[in-house]
Amino acid sequence: MRKMTESHLAAAFAGESQAHMRYLIFAQKAQEEGKSNLARLFEAIAFAERVHATNHYRTLGNIKGNDENLGVAIGGEIYEIEEMYPAYSDVARTQGERGAQLSFHYALSAEKIHAQVYTQAQEAIRGGGDVPGGSIFICSVCGHTVLGDVPEKCPVCGKGRETFRQF
Ligand SMILES: [Fe+2]
Ligand SMILES: [Fe+2]
Repeated sequence: MRKMTESHLAAAFAGESQAHMRYLIFAQKAQEEGKSNLARLFEAIAFAERVHATNHYRTLGNIKGNDENLGVAIGGEIYEIEEMYPAYSDVARTQGERGAQLSFHYALSAEKIHAQVYTQAQEAIRGGGDVPGGSIFICSVCGHTVLGDVPEKCPVCGKGRETFRQF
């Protein structure tokens, strides 16, 4: 592919991905305020942006097999753990930005688990099987990720078990 077109697809993928997420966040806000049709509108258009993002990503040739996709996922998580969040946290601390420090801390804690879980998943996929079928719980406050039984209290943010969403 020509380089200029490739960079445009990558930029469009980033923009559509952010729009997808932004609209889901707006939908949640609308739902909390009892505006269920506004929530539905945001969710529907978020899905359209996801379709666009997927099309751009596919056109870039970035959708590979499960093993390679897991490799990309692991690489992204490790970059966040080893470089991105430590550097971002340092700056936030230097600048006294408490909110950002907490937000980065929550993310960094979870990314460590994500890297482990994806690495185990890659081993399972390479062995010809699937990942184990147990429950996955995500803390809706901090993103703490648990495979197996839901904890009484989130070890990262301290919220109760009811904040966990099951997958
Ligand atoms: Fe992650
Ligand atoms: Fe949490």
